[in-house]
Amino acid sequence: MKIWLDTANVDEIRAAARFGVVSGVTTNPSLWAKAASGIEYREVVVEICSVIEGPVSAECVAQDVDGLVEEARSIASWHPNVVVKIPLDETGLEAIHRVSREGIKVNTTLIFQPNQAMLAAEAGATYVSPFVGRLDDIGHDGMAVVRDIVEIFDRYHFSTHVLAASLRHPLHVIQAAKAGAHIATVPYAVLQAMFKHPLTDVGMQKFLEDARKAATVRS
Ligand code: G3P
Repeated sequence: MKIWLDTANVDEIRAAARFGVVSGVTTNPSLWAKAASGIEYREVVVEICSVIEGPVSAECVAQDVDGLVEEARSIASWHPNVVVKIPLDETGLEAIHRVSREGIKVNTTLIFQPNQAMLAAEAGATYVSPFVGRLDDIGHDGMAVVRDIVEIFDRYHFSTHVLAASLRHPLHVIQAAKAGAHIATVPYAVLQAMFKHPLTDVGMQKFLEDARKAATVRS
């Protein structure tokens, strides 16, 4: 399973890039608003593309099909690695179909049930993003949706990638991997939590102390 970063904060993306484990980035208008006061969305996305060599999702906000198609074309022209995010409703589905036929890569966002994912895949989307945490928030099993989508896509040999999104903690990442998601997109804090364990810190401290003791005995 690939790890992507779910943020529009370029400092976080630069910091995470050092580890060599992040192969893509997802953004949305909320993440942009949180990260970059006063900086154009396009500017932020293009800068992210200069840091991460991989797909970078940028979201459309138009409210009608023609508007979405036009916006998708424009966003896709920002950089060759840009993937256009389109939410899955009736309008979005038609737009996904139209722009996918033009070769524009679409990440279908705001997926909350497997039927939405199947429709997006049939329409030609490259990625579907089930939002796990937001389903958990309302008392549903968000990861069950990821599992169902993976099972359906496997059975019918869809080439569309399952991108587990709205992941809030490290356990979500493990569950997404076990569910067979192709990609997990995580906030920077979740990435950091993935490589931390208190026993690692305690163990390192003990090795350090013992190394000092052993060096003292030898001298
Ligand atoms: O990638 C989707 C993600 O940004 C949504 O996360 O935490 O706002 O549900 P969240």
